[in-house]
Amino acid sequence: MSRTAVLSPIVLRIQTRWGRQTGLAEQQLNVRCSNATERQNRGNERRKSPLEVERRTPAGENRESAAALPQRNMAITVATSTLPQISLSGLKCEDIKRNGFHNRRETKGPGTAVASKQPRQESYEQAPMYVAVMTYLGFGIVTLFGYFRDFLRAVGVEKRNIAQEREEQKDFVPLYQDFENFYTRNLYMRVRDNWNRPVCSLPGPVFDLMERVSDDYNWTFRLTGRTIHNAINMGSYNYLGFAENNADFLKTVAAKTQQYGVGVCSTRQELGTLSIHEELEQLVASFLKVESSMTFGMGFAVNSMNIPAIVGKGGLILSDELNHTSLILGARLSGATIRVFKHNNMHSLEKMLKEAVCSGQPRTHRPWKKILIMVEGIYSMEGSVVRLPEIIALKKKYKAYLYLDEAHSIGAVGPSGRGVTELFNVNPSDVDVMMGTFTKSFGAAGGYIAGKKDLVDYLRGHSHSAVYAAAMSPPVAEQIIRAMKCIMGSDGSTEGIRRVRQLAENTRYFRARLKEMGFIIYGNDDSPVVPILLYMPGKVVAFAREMLERKIGVVVVGFPATPITEARARFCLSASHSRAMLNQVLRHMNEVGDNLCLKFSRLKYSSCPDLCDETDFDSGSLYDP
Ligand SMILES: Cc1ncc(COP(=O)(O)O)c(C=O)c1O
Repeated sequence: MSRTAVLSPIVLRIQTRWGRQTGLAEQQLNVRCSNATERQNRGNERRKSPLEVERRTPAGENRESAAALPQRNMAITVATSTLPQISLSGLKCEDIKRNGFHNRRETKGPGTAVASKQPRQESYEQAPMYVAVMTYLGFGIVTLFGYFRDFLRAVGVEKRNIAQEREEQKDFVPLYQDFENFYTRNLYMRVRDNWNRPVCSLPGPVFDLMERVSDDYNWTFRLTGRTIHNAINMGSYNYLGFAENNADFLKTVAAKTQQYGVGVCSTRQELGTLSIHEELEQLVASFLKVESSMTFGMGFAVNSMNIPAIVGKGGLILSDELNHTSLILGARLSGATIRVFKHNNMHSLEKMLKEAVCSGQPRTHRPWKKILIMVEGIYSMEGSVVRLPEIIALKKKYKAYLYLDEAHSIGAVGPSGRGVTELFNVNPSDVDVMMGTFTKSFGAAGGYIAGKKDLVDYLRGHSHSAVYAAAMSPPVAEQIIRAMKCIMGSDGSTEGIRRVRQLAENTRYFRARLKEMGFIIYGNDDSPVVPILLYMPGKVVAFAREMLERKIGVVVVGFPATPITEARARFCLSASHSRAMLNQVLRHMNEVGDNLCLKFSRLKYSSCPDLCDETDFDSGSLYDP
């Protein structure tokens, strides 16, 4: 693949992101489109899908405009002048209950913090030009060295370690992808020590990592037998702190394990539907305020196996460009035509919807059998929140269906943790297919599909993961039930809502402090996923190693998971992070940011980067040592 071919989509994507649209212009359909919409509707009358129930939208809803949608943006105001500096001293032992939820409680109770009802601002600050130039230069240099080392390997000077065609296959078409292999061999291998690090404790707010070393420049690793104890975990998706091993909290899980055992040894369709699965599904439906739900043992399979059951050949999927791989795989397996719209860009989506409705299928121009818009609640690489009200307005206007993946948003946003529908205060029945996973906020495994009863009943019989995959393990189901009841308050405590609010508070605090320090961070102010832009490959590696030296576990991400010039560290906040832990992380971030020159932001938030307005974060000061 030529370099231009590799770089041009990336450059395009950067331009797209940095030239982000801010509003949905009100547009009326022209006559041709109205006729085409009718044709599309008539075509859809013939469909035999449970989603059909939802299609009979009242004609008046077509006129819904973005202007009528609720105002989304709310700015953060941080008054810094009159307030004392917070103490950024190190973490105290009593702040950490090892391998579990931190043991300090809000003494003012959960009512002190305010979960935002309206989504806040989203920022995508552009890096200075020199950063982009240095990043390309950095990649250019390692690529040149890569070619040089490949030459040395070809002439036998350097040892070949990676998979390659055998000697007798040398005249075959190459079995391994050329560019990916080059990248892995020459770039990724140099920095591989920053990923796949073995963890030997519960992934709570603090965790233990196994120390390992490499004697051959990261081709292989050797465990030293030593452990890095009590590193602060800033990378796990433990949003509400339910990844915990407190025996009191887990006693119902232990009881259900004794009752049902661990494995089900059958599929849901055969002998794998236990009473605990039915209880869980009713609970999920009532939590999400929808008619019905179905649960699955694996979140990835919920997307990849259910999308093909919903849409197929002759259908059209409009997919956000930053959708998760499981959604992309499901879309590809479905056989439907896939068109990709720019991330969270309503103009791009509306243009595609309009074109799809007006022109129908290519060549035949028959109406699409079905149009499915696929989006996520929170995007895990950008920290952005879906523009749900606008998407719902568009889907109603063009009579398309909406598939919403709430893997990162369920439990994590909304005043009572019910995800983006609650965050935007939209009716959950406006989303045709609600999907989510239990692997993040619930500290468990698996996922769900929820919505109308017809849809769920249809999937019970048609989804490959319902028919052919083993049912969810009972202790896992019980862990989800316990966490969900806790969030809903139906266990008689306020612990769940306290955690939801604590997460919102931690998120706002952490994001605001990083911005003050001068880091470029992406995403929505409500998003507990916090990407910090590092850009240059050398800085990414140095940052991850420096942070680990300081006993802070972080996740760094680069190409191909991000555009080549937008490598980043991704922090995931948790309700179980105490204020002292966050302060310790922030203090080290400040130092590492200065040492490695990572503070690229040109926006000035505060003249004094360490100043905090404790009143802005309500009960925050209670955690400070
Ligand atoms: C948006 C999204 N959907 C689906 C999944 C897959 O979920 P799981 O990891 O529970 O299999 C993920 C995983 O991170 C995700 O981010």
